[in-house]
Amino acid sequence: MILLRAPKPDDIGPLTDAVNMPGVRRGTLRLPYTTEDLIQTRLTAPSPDTHHVVAAWDNRAVGLGTLRLGQGRRRHVGVLFLFIHDEHWGRGIGRALLEGLIDLADNWYGLIRLELDVAPSNTRAVKLYESAGFKREGIKRADTICDGLLEDSLVMGRLHPFPKPAKKGQKG
Ligand SMILES: CC(C)(COP(=O)(O)OP(=O)(O)OC[C@H]1O[C@@H](n2cnc3c(N)ncnc32)[C@H](O)[C@@H]1OP(=O)(O)O)[C@@H](O)C(=O)NCCC(=O)NCCS
Repeated sequence: MILLRAPKPDDIGPLTDAVNMPGVRRGTLRLPYTTEDLIQTRLTAPSPDTHHVVAAWDNRAVGLGTLRLGQGRRRHVGVLFLFIHDEHWGRGIGRALLEGLIDLADNWYGLIRLELDVAPSNTRAVKLYESAGFKREGIKRADTICDGLLEDSLVMGRLHPFPKPAKKGQKG
C-alpha cells in the first residue's frame, strides 16, 4: 500500500539505499556512494524553502519528493525533484508522489508555476510528467555528466490550472 507522509528518522537508511540504486542515480544528479549523513542532513535540517514528502510502500520509505520554493520575484515558482527505489518502479508510487507534490504546490503554497529538469532519455519520467500536465519547454545542451557521457537536460514546466476563488463567507 502506498502512503505519502512527512519524513521520519527511520527513513534515512532506506532512502540512502534508494539513492544509491543505479536507476535512481541515472535519473537524478546523485553522485555514486551517497552517504547516510547527506540524506540525514537533507531530511532533518532542510532549508526553509524546501518541503520533503516521503513515499512509503508497506510502511517502508521507498521514495522521496521535494518541492523547492522560489524566492523574491520567483516566489510563485516551485522546482520538483523525485525518486523511487528501482525495485519499486511501475507500482504507481511515482505518480502518487508527483500528485502529492502538485497538491502541495497548487493547494497549500498557491504556486503558479512548477518546473523540473529531466534527461530526455528518461522516458518513464517524461511520460509521467506529461500525463500530469507538464510541457516540454526547452533543452539545456550538455547539461550533466552521467557514467562518462555528457547529457542534455529537458526543461519541463506546468502552470497552475487556475486559482480557485475563496468560498463565500470564508476569510482568506
Ligand atoms: C520516474 C519515476 C519517479 C517513476 O516512478 P514509478 O513509481 O515507476 O512510476 P509509476 O509506476 O507511478 O508510473 C508512472 C508513469 O510512468 C510511466 N511509465 C511507467 N512504466 C514505464 C515504462 N516501463 N516505460 C515508460 N514509461 C513508463 C507511465 O506514464 C506511468 O503512467 P501509468 O501508470 O498511467 O502507465 C521512477 O522511475 C524513478 O524514480 N526513476 C529514477 C529517478 C528519476 O528519474 N527521477 C526523476 C528525475 S526528473
